[in-house]
Amino acid sequence: MVDLSVDIGALKLANPIMPGSGTFAEGMEQVVDLNCIGAFVAKTITPEIREGNPQPRVTELKNGMIGSIGIPSKGPEHFIREIVPFYNRFTPPFVASVSASSAEEFGELCAQISVEGVDVIEANISCPNLKRDGEAFGMRCADTTDVLEEIKKRTDLPVWAKLTPNVGNIGEIAQAAEDAGADALVVANALLAMAIDTETFRPKLGNVMGGITGPVVKPIILRMAYQCAKAVDIPVIGCGGVATVADVAEYMLAGCTAVQVGTASFVHPTAMINIIDGLADYLEGQGLNSVTNLIGAMVEPGNNAEGVVEAPSIRTVGGGNEGGGV
Ligand SMILES: Cc1cc2nc3c(=O)[nH]c(=O)nc-3n(C[C@H](O)[C@H](O)[C@H](O)COP(=O)(O)O)c2cc1C
Repeated sequence: MVDLSVDIGALKLANPIMPGSGTFAEGMEQVVDLNCIGAFVAKTITPEIREGNPQPRVTELKNGMIGSIGIPSKGPEHFIREIVPFYNRFTPPFVASVSASSAEEFGELCAQISVEGVDVIEANISCPNLKRDGEAFGMRCADTTDVLEEIKKRTDLPVWAKLTPNVGNIGEIAQAAEDAGADALVVANALLAMAIDTETFRPKLGNVMGGITGPVVKPIILRMAYQCAKAVDIPVIGCGGVATVADVAEYMLAGCTAVQVGTASFVHPTAMINIIDGLADYLEGQGLNSVTNLIGAMVEPGNNAEGVVEAPSIRTVGGGNEGGGV
């Protein structure tokens, strides 16, 4: 029997698979057994009620999508009244995701939603900082520090910092988040992108620019997750293009403790469950009795020292659609 459980700080997950914020919602219980998922991550909420960005909000690509949703939010009262009780009907831990326009607002919102039933707060620091003309908090170390310090002052819950990939040196931001008290990192949110309709000459998104997600981004985000895992001691959760068991294995070999699945669930609503089932088979096939054997087990070039886990070939689980993914 393979052990799929992982620890993210003090939090124990039955397996390392969870949804990316905003890509999973109430209603999914009609399609999948929610008790099988490692953890729930809710859609990001903001202090104020928000409509979100103008339509169209998504455009499809061959191997991913570009979205500009704009974080429509019903605010914290609705979250506490409707969303927390919904997820508390199931066994996996529940992660709230928050965003705000200033460090103080982040802190205030986190204090407000630190209620029974919320196990972790994920700080989505990819959102615009109004004090910096809309530049994302996670683009600068100082702003990352401000937000996390403010949040840590206002809640006793574990805090995960969800980084933006739209930076030059993500390891530096990862370190700033860790130094400011983040308990784990989620690497990462969507990469800035755009698309133009060549018939109408109009942008394909109402907001012109959006974020690209799905399998197309995986090699880039995998590289960033690897850099972050090298830069910090806290757990790193990989998020970008996970659609198959091989994707999970790659992120974990690169140093991640768990992964989040986003776009793949839009293609196959059962993607996460298929990946969880396939993961046990993959580990069994590799003769590993715990998924934690994968964490950081990539063999660095030139390192064949005794005691280093020989990286098994993952080609056999990567080429097709074994994870039920895209
Ligand atoms: C439709 C959509 C909505 C999203 N909403 C949020 C959100 O509210 N908060 C957040 O932190 N990330 C949000 N994301 C980003 C995802 O959580 C994830 O970081 C990203 O999609 C990369 O993972 P993927 O390649 O597996 O999709 C959203 C992504 C999509 C596609």
